Amino acid sequence: MPEISEMSSNEIVYTISQSTGPMKNTRLDNKTAIVTGGASGIGRAIAKRFAASGARVCIFDLDGSQAQAVAHEIKIEGGSVEALACDVSNQAQVKTVFQQIFQRGPVHILVNSAGIAHIGNLESTSPEDFDRIFRVNVMGIYNCMQACIGHLKANGTGVILNLASVSALVGLQDRFAYSTSKGAVISMTYSVAKDYLPFNIRCNCISPARVHTPFVDGYLAKNYPGHEEEMFKTLSQTQPIGRMGEPDEVASLALFLCSDAAAFITGVNYPIDGGFMNLRD
Ligand SMILES: NC(=O)c1ccc[n+]([C@@H]2O[C@H](COP(=O)([O-])OP(=O)(O)OC[C@H]3O[C@@H](n4cnc5c(N)ncnc54)[C@H](O)[C@@H]3O)[C@@H](O)[C@H]2O)c1
Repeated sequence: MPEISEMSSNEIVYTISQSTGPMKNTRLDNKTAIVTGGASGIGRAIAKRFAASGARVCIFDLDGSQAQAVAHEIKIEGGSVEALACDVSNQAQVKTVFQQIFQRGPVHILVNSAGIAHIGNLESTSPEDFDRIFRVNVMGIYNCMQACIGHLKANGTGVILNLASVSALVGLQDRFAYSTSKGAVISMTYSVAKDYLPFNIRCNCISPARVHTPFVDGYLAKNYPGHEEEMFKTLSQTQPIGRMGEPDEVASLALFLCSDAAAFITGVNYPIDGGFMNLRD
């Protein structure tokens, strides 16, 4: 082989691609991605980013009209999208909407972003609330992964990405049911990643700290009426980086993890947290 200094740039590119294989990028052209909870916040940002990166996107959300509104935004931006109303905690409904999408062609990516919050400790959390959080945050992901897994196996490839939370990893005040449900999301992720390795299906999760979405605004309005702005600042300062994350920043990580560029990554939980996990005082 000649010295690099003696090679043309084309020869260098050819030589590198011979030794490492073709370069994998973060485009999602010719891929179909289902995004649950895609009508709002992080799911909406992911649906928009995936569509802008070439994917056909299907939004499943409890709020059908808001899901349609996001689909409309994506269409205006030139993306390919459809939106269906679906309660992820209802297994029969989940099966029906997944079948509807499978009839149109292969699905390659499932992002589970639908989730709900709850404030309370062990004593103040009622069995009804505990059950409700689990039905959406845990059963919802189970229902969607189960509805999709046979299809991904048959296609010989697939990527699943679940939204967990830093609350699963540290003790946060008054997050008893929510943290517990997110702990289950991480465990489900590892379990699925392990069991479906032989089928070329990757499964990872993202654990955000506070990200500024309607989820956070709703929490402030409900728990600190009249003091929303003040509490927003206080919550922002609890993250070492001094602010909340943006949904788009989570979408960037989601795009990477669901793309072929992340082909070597499975069974991993990624905190995206402005330093919350490692840099707190
Ligand atoms: N925003 C944060 O600070 C934060 C931090 C850590 C983890 N998360 C997680 O990220 C995910 C998205 O959060 P977000 O902030 O974008 O929330 P969001 O409230 O802005 O959006 C959640 C979406 O899920 C939908 N949804 C709720 N219940 C549903 C159901 N039963 N079936 C179908 N859709 C349903 C809602 O209609 C909404 O469109 C959630 O799983 C949440 O727990 C958020």
